[in-house]
Amino acid sequence: MSGHSTYEPKTGAEKWLERRLPIVRLLHDTAVSYPTPRNLNYLWTFGGILTFMLVVQIVTGVVLAMHYTPNTALAFSSVEHIMRDVNYGWLIRYMHANGASMFFIAVYIHIFRGLYYGSYKEPREVLWILGVIIFLLMMATAFMGYVLPWGQMSFWGATVITNLFSALPYVGEPIVTWLWGGFAVDNPTLNRFFSLHYLLPFMIAGVVVLHIWALHVVGQNNPTGIDVKSEKDTVPFTPYATVKDSFAIVVFLLFFSWFLFYQPNFLGHADNYIPANPLVTPAHIVPEWYFLPFYAILRAVPDKLGGVIAMFSAIAVLVFLPWLDTSKVRSATYRPLYKIFFWIFAAVAVTLGWLGSRPAEGGYVIASQLLTIYYFVHFLVILPLLGFIETPKPLPTSIADSVLKKHGGAGHPAGAAAAPETRG
Ligand code: HEM
Repeated sequence: MSGHSTYEPKTGAEKWLERRLPIVRLLHDTAVSYPTPRNLNYLWTFGGILTFMLVVQIVTGVVLAMHYTPNTALAFSSVEHIMRDVNYGWLIRYMHANGASMFFIAVYIHIFRGLYYGSYKEPREVLWILGVIIFLLMMATAFMGYVLPWGQMSFWGATVITNLFSALPYVGEPIVTWLWGGFAVDNPTLNRFFSLHYLLPFMIAGVVVLHIWALHVVGQNNPTGIDVKSEKDTVPFTPYATVKDSFAIVVFLLFFSWFLFYQPNFLGHADNYIPANPLVTPAHIVPEWYFLPFYAILRAVPDKLGGVIAMFSAIAVLVFLPWLDTSKVRSATYRPLYKIFFWIFAAVAVTLGWLGSRPAEGGYVIASQLLTIYYFVHFLVILPLLGFIETPKPLPTSIADSVLKKHGGAGHPAGAAAAPETRG
């Protein structure tokens, strides 16, 4: 797919640069001539949306850091200062806080798109694993960012999560002391979280470059899951994908704006507007919504170490997904049984999220335990078996065929002409 380049340097300056650093060729091959499958739907715009959101988070974060003070005595009031005194500080801060949620909404759609269409399967294993690494880095970044305003949830969330490491035998306690930089979550903890919260997004950006590089080597998957076979199956990235991605970003921004301008605190927790107090524990310590399914898994296991292992395994299992799914067919469109299990799994993940927001007692714990078991059964039992049990539906002969048949019959000139406009 990375194929041979169609870039021709025209001006003298372009030719001069081309011989020294062929960066214009790289950009042209990546964002202009790159062949994209002609049948991509709107779920394929989320990679672009994510790239855009990463930039939004970095830009707003850098501005926030100009006014924020990472000191336990000043952090909370420096955030209030940003909200009240800094010009448009409220906007920058709400963009950053809500932007984190938007980033996770987009990444969950992006991941579930991959699960549905089998985008993790051969030859996209490395691309997928790089995605899992990005996801882990995103979670670490968001967790540390939430500590910075030094409200009650910041402090108690940090205390609960860092304490998890104390469950490890022998090394647990020393690790926690080392993470804290002392004997409790305190000023040294806040300082290092600020430092790492600033650093990690740039590491994410680095892994995103590898992610997109890997994508360009193996080529994009598509809703049929079958490989690109000829030029008829693709359209050039510009204008088709550029225009479609830009439109999707604008629509996504409207959705973002609704939260930003009408409900800026809807996704947050009221307790975080109370300054951190190590002497008063909040009645319910809940993480941000995007951590809730994993939080439910953590609390489902009665043993602390067991809970920590289950929670990390819930993400680690994704790394092995390309080998756990034994089906030769990628897309759920042609996998009648997998399609059903996909939707059951999606419902289980959402329900686990809801359970994570409930107090850890009675029926909620039992439900979390059952769904946690199902979560692992899905990956470790159902997916490996399905490949052997399921009879897939017949696949289209080519991507072009699958589009043209839907829109006026294969080989029909009118159908062929209409196809590019009907992508998605
Ligand atoms: C900062 C976060 C991320 C960014 C900026 C990003 C960016 C992109 C872009 C631009 C694409 C191509 C367009 C598209 O298919 O939507 C893509 C594809 C892909 N991404 Fe990501 N990604 C991110 C996170 C993830 C995560 C967390 C996973 C999985 C755990 C993942 C898995 C994939 C896969 C499998 C593809 C290929 C999809 C296909 O061709 O069907 N990505 N990503």
